[in-house]
Amino acid sequence: MSFTSADFRKALGLFPTGVAIVSGRGDDGELLGMTVSSFNSVSLDPPLVLFSVARSAASYSAWVAMPKYGISVLARSQDDLSTRFSKSQTEKWSLVHPAYGEHDVPLIPGALVGFECEKYAVHDGGDHAIFVGRVLSLHAVATPASEPLVFYSGRYAGIRRSETEPSEMDGMMLHGW
Ligand SMILES: Cc1cc2nc3c(=O)[nH]c(=O)nc-3n(C[C@H](O)[C@H](O)[C@H](O)COP(=O)(O)O)c2cc1C
Repeated sequence: MSFTSADFRKALGLFPTGVAIVSGRGDDGELLGMTVSSFNSVSLDPPLVLFSVARSAASYSAWVAMPKYGISVLARSQDDLSTRFSKSQTEKWSLVHPAYGEHDVPLIPGALVGFECEKYAVHDGGDHAIFVGRVLSLHAVATPASEPLVFYSGRYAGIRRSETEPSEMDGMMLHGW
């Protein structure tokens, strides 16, 4: 390798991402949640999404065993939740009351969109595992004025949008809560 691990991390940080919290229940019914920037789309038909989890995460084996989980895409104003759910083995849910969709999966209230998913596949991804979920339902509260939380170069950021150009998402209706 002609680069250090620190260089690699820095280089990867130059790819701006959104921020999501994956959520679910462990074997004993306890609430679990983890901030991820690795969320992405995979397939429209069937509807598949992915995220990756470090094998070193305390909750790693719980995610592998979980038949259903939620993914909540955070709004710009939810950076405190992102930080809270990125701290290992803390009382992540102590101040957060989960919202539930029709598949009884806990989601983060006020997120731009929540996906209820069932486990589709878990693939090897080196020191991470790649979780592919089949989307069962969508719960969106986003409006054209909503702002996503962005993670770039190790910091939270927002986006600046051109107000003149309409988006194909404007006026798109999704199920609310
Ligand atoms: C913006 C941000 C994005 C993150 N993305 C990921 C990710 O995609 N995969 C991952 O395993 N950890 C990611 N982390 C770190 C985890 O959130 C953190 O290690 C996790 O909450 C630990 O959970 P634990 O209680 O299971 O150990 C990210 C942290 C931050 C702040």
